[in-house]
Amino acid sequence: MNITCKDKVFKIDTENTSYVIAVADEEGFIGHAYYGDRIEEAPGYLLRTEENPFVPSKNNRDRGSFMDSFPCEYPGNGLGDYRDGAVEIIDADGHRAINLTFDDYKIVDGKPHLKGLPQTFEKGTGAPLNSGEGKGGENREKTTGAAKTLEIYASDKVLGVKAILRYSVFDDNDAIVRSAELINDSKETVYITKALSASIDMDSEDYELLTLHGSWARERQIDIRPIGYGKTSVGSVKGESSHQEHPFMALVQKGTTQDYGKVYGFSFVYSGNFLAQVEKSQFDSVRAMMGINPGGFKWELKAGESFQTPEVVMVYSGEGLGRMSRTYHDLYREHLIRSPYKDKERPILINNWEATYFDFNTEKLLSIAREAKKSGIEMLVMDDGWFGVRNDDNTSLGDWNVNEEKLPGGLKYLVDEVNKIGLKFGIWMEPEMISPDSELYRAHPDWAIQIPGRVATRSRNQYVLDLTRPEVLEHTWNSIKTVLGSANIEYLKWDMNRQITDIGSVYLGRENQGELSHRFTLAVYELQERLVREFPNLLLENCSGGGARFDPGMLYFSPQIWCSDDTDAIERLGIQEGTSLVYPLSSMGAHVSDCPNHTVGRVTPFVTRGHVALAGTFGYELDITKIPENDRAMIPEQTATYHKYNRLVREGDYYRVASFRENHFFDCYGVVGKDKKEALFTFVQVFNRPNCHSRLIRLKGLDSGKNYSISFIHGAGEGSGEKREVLSGDTIMKAGILMQNPWGDFVSCLIYLREV
Ligand code: DGJ
Repeated sequence: MNITCKDKVFKIDTENTSYVIAVADEEGFIGHAYYGDRIEEAPGYLLRTEENPFVPSKNNRDRGSFMDSFPCEYPGNGLGDYRDGAVEIIDADGHRAINLTFDDYKIVDGKPHLKGLPQTFEKGTGAPLNSGEGKGGENREKTTGAAKTLEIYASDKVLGVKAILRYSVFDDNDAIVRSAELINDSKETVYITKALSASIDMDSEDYELLTLHGSWARERQIDIRPIGYGKTSVGSVKGESSHQEHPFMALVQKGTTQDYGKVYGFSFVYSGNFLAQVEKSQFDSVRAMMGINPGGFKWELKAGESFQTPEVVMVYSGEGLGRMSRTYHDLYREHLIRSPYKDKERPILINNWEATYFDFNTEKLLSIAREAKKSGIEMLVMDDGWFGVRNDDNTSLGDWNVNEEKLPGGLKYLVDEVNKIGLKFGIWMEPEMISPDSELYRAHPDWAIQIPGRVATRSRNQYVLDLTRPEVLEHTWNSIKTVLGSANIEYLKWDMNRQITDIGSVYLGRENQGELSHRFTLAVYELQERLVREFPNLLLENCSGGGARFDPGMLYFSPQIWCSDDTDAIERLGIQEGTSLVYPLSSMGAHVSDCPNHTVGRVTPFVTRGHVALAGTFGYELDITKIPENDRAMIPEQTATYHKYNRLVREGDYYRVASFRENHFFDCYGVVGKDKKEALFTFVQVFNRPNCHSRLIRLKGLDSGKNYSISFIHGAGEGSGEKREVLSGDTIMKAGILMQNPWGDFVSCLIYLREV
């Protein structure tokens, strides 16, 4: 890791990558010169300013051509560059032009804390959300010298608006973390209508665009498309990162695989509206940009105020997608997730949602707890339906008082009884919401986000609370605190079951309605920060109607996020593959559920459901008192298997060997310990095929010089292990191991390797 500056050429190096920024011409245009495999020097020709149209000081006649073709590092708007810019401002006279040119720079040790935003941090320094001044980069976290930051100071000389472009690197990771801060140094109020976090211009080189699209119960499916001329984008204006599109994109060289090809990943540390866009120009360059979605965004910036954008984490891999994923996993495990549970085995939980939905009472929950205890399950989570008069999803959000008809004796009694059985207790809440049929709404109808005079749009028969209002935020915080303080609650599932629409706040002024979505996201962060400060030992799992808010922003607060409401083992292969492209397995909420599956009706073997859920946090989502005896009998073995391998799954390096998405036949992925002494791979044959050979599976990531004993675990756990001969890592990776075609569909097997 190093950052240098020579003649206004900035070179940011990680172990394997380099990023070069260069300042051009006397006006100080800030150019993007290079990003890719590590290079030792940064030659001056990279910006191509010695050729037509040259720089304006040499050829002002063609200034427009220069602006429209210059590879810009943080492009402005309205001054000749017709490609989309990263920043747009309406000034006091109503003009929208902005061009940020170079003033100065600083290279500092450590990484400044961005006040109020989730963010990456130098190992061991994850600061509270709101620490620091948050202005002008004055506030830096303590540093151990394991991170460095380049700050480029730029300004629009006409507007008096300044910017700080920040680039941070860590000594143990190839990621480069970018953000921008805008400071109004003029005497007038301006309005920001676009403030993206990162933008780079590169030659197009036939890149394709990889994004993660989805829907409810079908989140984060990998989608790859050619990048055509013009603009291609994904984004969200739903007030959350969303089921449909995901705050991640990668530019991948055509033909990229897990192990080959150039990959540029962009991941947004944010949970609200986002935009990820590529634009291919007439000159065959691509501009890749990411940040808060400008759709509906308008931020008032008074004289002296500043606006900080969230971070974009850029990862370049010259060795395919696999290396990119491992870089993100390491970064997010070591430099983003703050929870003390990050390095701990999570308790195996059983959640009553698919077991009972709203139809439960204390006795039912205790019967599940008793049975669960016998099988090695460690925590009971009571999901939706325990409060107000919520016997279906039409009422009571906001009324966070226990329903004593269902739970006589209240929460304390229930939790104490569950604890006596020997299980921990966790609870579900959806704090950001308000039902029209609730005491809270009857008392405060104006607390819901809505546009006065319009019929407010309901979704799942609920509204979203206007958390930008201080009294609403305080009330919500007090509700959460009261519930969690009322009994020995050790886990919270924080849900969000609808998106935001009808952008209107009676609290925000006429000129500030365009701030609502971002302010809402900041308010959620504020609430979750209070939560993790006040209840430091609570295990928090975020959730949003499944995985609509599975993003790096939420990982700053919770070490795990519910991946999807689809718990079918086969659907989960695709969902977990897409999710693991960016996020560590330790963060993916994954449960074994009952069959026929409640979402797709598929029947899969209990063993397969267990094997697939092992690639996440692991737990159960079923009525253990009702499932077939054969299935129940496997749970003790499954829970023991989880304990045996979870450390490896949590901490290891992830390798994808084969994808059912691509081969329509089978899936295979695994984790290899950092010391390469052991590895666990999962093989799932989705559909059997007649008349075909046994398969040679070339595993990955092992030490070619080590010898490994290999066990094939076809059942729920160890007992079903079948040992094969000892083979060298070299042979296993080059020739492969022999997998007999299992009989049937949806059949799985764990492959455990241990150095001998
Ligand atoms: C959506 C979640 O994803 C489910 O697991 C469950 O908690 C329901 N909400 C409850 O309403």
